[in-house]
Amino acid sequence: MKQAGQAGLVVAAAPALGRFAVAQTEQVTRVVVDSGRQIAQISPQLFGSFLEHLGRAIYGGIYEPGSKLADADGFRTDVIAEVREVGVPIVRYPGGNFVSGYHWLDGVGPKKDRPVVLDRAWNSIETNQFGTDEFIEWTRKVGTEPLFGLNFGTGTAEDAAALVEYCNVARGTKWSNLRRSYGHEEPYGVKFWCVGNEMDGTWQIGHMDARDYGMKAADAARQMRVVDPTVKLIACGSSGPFQPTYITWDLTVLEQCYEVVDGISLHRYFGNDSETDHDSRKYVAMNLAMDRQIEEIIDVCDTVRAQKRSDKQLFLSFDEWNVWYRARSGDAVDGHRTFAPHLLEEQYNLEDALVVGGLCNSLMRHADRVKVSCLAQLVNVIAPLMTNEDRILRQTIYYPYAWALKYGKGKVLSLFSEGPGYEVASLGRPTESGGLSSPGFGQVQYLDVVATLDADRKTANFFVLNRDLDNEQVLEINFHDLTPTGVKAFETITGNDLKALNTFAEPKKVVPQTVESPKVGSRMSVKLPARSYSVLSLSL
Ligand code: AHR
Repeated sequence: MKQAGQAGLVVAAAPALGRFAVAQTEQVTRVVVDSGRQIAQISPQLFGSFLEHLGRAIYGGIYEPGSKLADADGFRTDVIAEVREVGVPIVRYPGGNFVSGYHWLDGVGPKKDRPVVLDRAWNSIETNQFGTDEFIEWTRKVGTEPLFGLNFGTGTAEDAAALVEYCNVARGTKWSNLRRSYGHEEPYGVKFWCVGNEMDGTWQIGHMDARDYGMKAADAARQMRVVDPTVKLIACGSSGPFQPTYITWDLTVLEQCYEVVDGISLHRYFGNDSETDHDSRKYVAMNLAMDRQIEEIIDVCDTVRAQKRSDKQLFLSFDEWNVWYRARSGDAVDGHRTFAPHLLEEQYNLEDALVVGGLCNSLMRHADRVKVSCLAQLVNVIAPLMTNEDRILRQTIYYPYAWALKYGKGKVLSLFSEGPGYEVASLGRPTESGGLSSPGFGQVQYLDVVATLDADRKTANFFVLNRDLDNEQVLEINFHDLTPTGVKAFETITGNDLKALNTFAEPKKVVPQTVESPKVGSRMSVKLPARSYSVLSLSL
């Protein structure tokens, strides 16, 4: 993706358009915007999220009967309002690792008859008071779409097909009639399904090898398609590059099931940890590792496509991504057989928000192949939103995610970008045990820029990460064939302290600031503060 330029100058993405290939001064990054150079239309599901039966995500997060903030169905109204406002388009459910030991039948029917079970993924008590029907009800209240995960650990292909039947068949069959008998007359029409979760991981209940998983996925996919031919099925890809089986897992799985699935999953969690040598300069470049991962999995998909002489091109579902490295071991991941324990309650600081902004950029610039993604997760568990008894809190990472949802619409443009940068020659080993280290990135540009153009060509939006932790940087935007007429919005998230975070006591320590509007023109200069992620919306 990135190529080394001359002394401190880095060239990214598309080849230079001749008339702009002029000498570069330090601290100025030049981009050329040409509306004809389009990467793709952004998929409506590009910035989804994730809710797992884990910690306080469901119980005490979105569902808390008895709370003064709950509605008649037990849903937290403050959470509903926030999720509606941010406009999350799709939510993955019910796991994650949880799903690989989950019997969906335990979570439907009269609540008084539902069993209390031990969730072996997180060693927690699961009451099953919230299940498939409650989740569908919640998605309707917040105006989002469900993405169901299927149990490929203890569950069979038949169980998976039965859940599709329960959700999507109108009437007249065993499982559709069961749904109707529980008071849900109309089918749910669930379109997207994850065919298992992280089955390559030794930590996963029912972990298996790639060929066995691929064969089981193919069998289940065929059965599910008989039940509902319109479903979109996402095969379970590698849990990440730290896995020794990364790539070979994906190749082997797709050799078995390529023709009967529509997409493949990618997962990745980032941290300012051993992988970045605890160096914030490396940390804020880590979205380049996401770029690389996406491009490697595209190569795998297209290799199998070529082997099979297939017409079909798979899409990528990056259905778990976020920063997660502090609340990742010991009591933070062990519920000790309690109900709704405080698990994975990561507190996010400013530098995490910058990284999440960069990750949003990476997803957008791969909008041609990444059609679904899920920020993992949504509430209380590695989440942009936290709840306590009285309130809801926006963590720092909420803001770049909210901007991606608000402004990341229309088409993503392919930018020519040239500017100063710094070297990231190597990375360390990730925190996951036995993790393999990744290569470095070579020269990294200070400014990471993505531009989108709305369908009516009346708005262009720029998402800019300034990785320079010490200095302001200037972005020079050269419009090839569009004329900006004004600034609709220019907001940034920045601050002096990379470790600053929001708490219930101090909820506004890291919040967006409005920046003075730049002078607009077909060649315009925009100042980006040190340590910042910004969105600039221009009317055309
Ligand atoms: O999102 C937290 C966990 O991370 C999920 O349960 C699992 O799929 C991943 O390892």
